[in-house]
Amino acid sequence: MSDQNAPGASAAPSGPGSTSGFRPAAVAAVPLATIGESIGVVVPGAAGSVPVTGISLNSRTVQPGDLYVALPGASRHGADFVSQAVEAGAAAVLTDDAGARLLAFSHDIAVPVLLAEEPRSLVGGLSALIYQSRPEGAQAPALFGVTGTNGKTTTTYFINALLQALGQKTGLIGTIEILAGGAPIPSLLTTPESTDVHALLALMRERGLDAASMEVSSHAVSFHRVDGVVFDVAGFTNLTQDHLDLHGSMDEYFQTKAQLFTAERARRAVVTVDDDWGVTLAATAGIPVTTLATHGAGGAAGSPAAADWTVTDPAPRGLGTDFTLRHRGGTELRVHTGLPGSFNVANAALATVMVLTGGHDAAAVQAALDAGDPFTVAVPGRMQLVSTAPAAVVDFAHNPDALARALEAVRSPEPGSRVIIVFGATGQRDQSKRPAMGAIAARLADTVIVSDDDPHDEDAAAIRADVMAGAVEAKEHEDLSCSILEVFPRDAAIRKAVELAGPADTILVAGRGHEVWQEVKGVNLALDDRVELRSALTARGFTVLEDQRIES
Ligand SMILES: Nc1ncnc2c1ncn2[C@@H]1O[C@H](COP(=O)(O)OP(=O)(O)O)[C@@H](O)[C@H]1O
Ligand SMILES: [Mg+2]
Repeated sequence: MSDQNAPGASAAPSGPGSTSGFRPAAVAAVPLATIGESIGVVVPGAAGSVPVTGISLNSRTVQPGDLYVALPGASRHGADFVSQAVEAGAAAVLTDDAGARLLAFSHDIAVPVLLAEEPRSLVGGLSALIYQSRPEGAQAPALFGVTGTNGKTTTTYFINALLQALGQKTGLIGTIEILAGGAPIPSLLTTPESTDVHALLALMRERGLDAASMEVSSHAVSFHRVDGVVFDVAGFTNLTQDHLDLHGSMDEYFQTKAQLFTAERARRAVVTVDDDWGVTLAATAGIPVTTLATHGAGGAAGSPAAADWTVTDPAPRGLGTDFTLRHRGGTELRVHTGLPGSFNVANAALATVMVLTGGHDAAAVQAALDAGDPFTVAVPGRMQLVSTAPAAVVDFAHNPDALARALEAVRSPEPGSRVIIVFGATGQRDQSKRPAMGAIAARLADTVIVSDDDPHDEDAAAIRADVMAGAVEAKEHEDLSCSILEVFPRDAAIRKAVELAGPADTILVAGRGHEVWQEVKGVNLALDDRVELRSALTARGFTVLEDQRIES
């Protein structure tokens, strides 16, 4: 659901891509001659003085004064939409040979057309030039980028919350939403197009923000979405098998992520060395690296003794954890996260070390941690706590592995405390994961409530039956003591969970996280697990937590 765009798909005007709300209010015009010079393209005569004030890959989001970059798309070439772009006010066009051939058949184009061999690779740099997103020598927000298979969203929210606790004005670019100093902008891609990224960074600069954190998926790197961006601190969480469909192999996937850790893209790095990939990255990165070991695994270079920072003495507190973050030079910080799961200890540690690496001193960070408890922030749909007695948690886990991790994370050490899970499987995706998810729930929860996720065009009852079968089989064959129920629709399943819960129990509603629409046979139904949980809890007289949203 995050990276739904294929490479270059934004060139075709079909995808929801750019948003004009991303742009700074004032852009100093760049003459087309300067643009040509920066990409080694000669701009003939008078065309050189044409002023350019923006850049767009999508004819439908072109604004007057834009350079329209016509790229090959998944089905059509952007050059097919040049007349719409010009009508919308495009000041000039940049395209490739294929685009130029298409344009040769069309009527006269009233604006200059520049030709480059591979314009896709020029877009990031051009966007940086046109928007002056991070000009050399000028004040700009400190930029923190987080990459890795898991924990990117959570870690960027943690960085954001810690920076705010330090008194900074912050922005955030991520999967769920974009915060640039105004109202949150819902996010459509894990990382927006590079044109939007630079426009957003310029907007943040214009609004005087001190810092911004950004989620950088491997797709974002492969699809040029962070071209021309230099992060002050790049952070690495972990690398596990994921997205191999796109990247072919783990090695390739690693190489893609590793590109972020080069001088072209980042000044300094913080690398979690809990897995071998982190160890390799730390050893091979082309920039100064600070290492972090959060549970002491990961080979020689990643062993706690060798890492710059180490997590020690984790102790459960509520659903979360207290821990010590120790530098091998002796500095120690006491850190707390209220979010469940040992992985949130890793995320909190990484956020802290990234902020320290960004130049904040340890004493100030400790004071901000103590006063602001920044790692208890609500990350929308990521181990998001809706109440504490019973503990009610909404999480995004929607595959067998993630479900197992989430269930383990919410298991309270209190004797007699039960775990009730509400979940379902999505339609039209890998069907083998349905019984597997059922079996995992049966093993790790006390009460399993099987319900619906996004059935899409499939029969919801058939999906539930697959999940139920896995749960029931595990219970029978492994002699498990859980109870298994099938309840639908999903809001009824959530109410059932609340009905069954006592104050010492935990309810985990998994699979949909921050999503607010459920897709059933082409129709989007409004459904927000957090809203349903809150109302069911309130109806039973339980206290719910305020929605601690991050204000930018
Ligand atoms: N560091 C981590 N390691 C493993 N799993 C994690 C980590 N952080 C979060 N998770 C799990 O993965 C899910 C997605 O977390 P998120 O922060 O959104 O990561 P990403 O943005 O990388 O997808 C969470 O709901 C949680 O269950
Ligand atoms: Mg994410």
